[in-house]
Amino acid sequence: MRILFTGGTGKAGRHVIAHLLGLGHKVLNLDLQPLDQPGVANRIADITDAGQVFDVMASYADFDELDPGTGVPRFDAVVHFAAVPRILLKSDNECFRVNTLGTYNVIDAALKFGVRKVIFASSETTYGVCFADGTRQPDYLPIDEDHPTVPEDSYAMSKLANEVTAQCFQRRSGADIYGLRINNVIEPQDYARDFPAYLADPALRRRNIFAFIDARDLGQMVERSLQVDGLGYQVFNVANDTHSVGETSDALIARFYEGVPISRAIGPRESFYSNAKAKALLGFAPQHNDWRAKLG
Ligand SMILES: NC(=O)c1ccc[n+]([C@@H]2O[C@H](COP(=O)([O-])OP(=O)(O)OC[C@H]3O[C@@H](n4cnc5c(N)ncnc54)[C@H](O)[C@@H]3O)[C@@H](O)[C@H]2O)c1
Repeated sequence: MRILFTGGTGKAGRHVIAHLLGLGHKVLNLDLQPLDQPGVANRIADITDAGQVFDVMASYADFDELDPGTGVPRFDAVVHFAAVPRILLKSDNECFRVNTLGTYNVIDAALKFGVRKVIFASSETTYGVCFADGTRQPDYLPIDEDHPTVPEDSYAMSKLANEVTAQCFQRRSGADIYGLRINNVIEPQDYARDFPAYLADPALRRRNIFAFIDARDLGQMVERSLQVDGLGYQVFNVANDTHSVGETSDALIARFYEGVPISRAIGPRESFYSNAKAKALLGFAPQHNDWRAKLG
């Protein structure tokens, strides 16, 4: 596939792009900063500027595409990751502006140029737990995509607004638009650096519902989302099968979730952030669940 990827220079995107290149896809990375990775073409553009987004959407990816003499090829898919990726980086209103306006521009341009598959990064924060003032308990565990989305901060608010934007665009276009409610992204080098602290103090992971997503498994999730067509508008939780802490599910429930309804049996190491929908509809099968083995 010929793929336009936004935000590919970032923490998550660079791993997903590497995965897509490994599968033989062609990727043009639209970002404010270039990604220095062999095989990746970059275009410096701002997603909040519709003119720039529309231009890149109708652009050659690289010089080699001039050779056939048949004009600009169309993108087969758009993967949209560019964003202000959390609160407390920029002002709240700038975070909301960049994320919502940028997402509108990217999906609008994609559809107007005939792209029929758009994958966009939403977030676990839409469930309201991550950036709550104080402690917000889930309505039930495990958290699946039917759980209420109840954000109270500008970042999560922007992600929920983007889900509504995407759903509206899908209604008119009939294209496939899948939103990925990504949990906390862990790069390979993060295990040795961060996980010993999570073993020592599981409370460090409460705001992530004790879950995580390995960046390489996120690559597989995008791969599966690109492969499976015909689902219309969907949102998917994206997490590994296991917790990011050492305690068992029963111990975590006893310590952190007193009184929270448990909707079904949960395995001792099974994530509270359910990826069952992605497995059932997309065949998602994360490979990097056993992080203990990486700690040596
Ligand atoms: N990292 C996580 O744990 C996590 C969890 C859930 C969701 N997400 C979402 O996944 C996506 C990627 O997150 P990340 O951690 O890689 O973030 P990141 O900040 O590392 O990468 C984001 C990229 O977007 C680019 N960008 C920002 N504003 C832009 C603009 N106006 N125009 C063009 N490019 C712009 C940045 O230059 C950067 O390269 C984001 O949408 C984020 O909200 C991330």
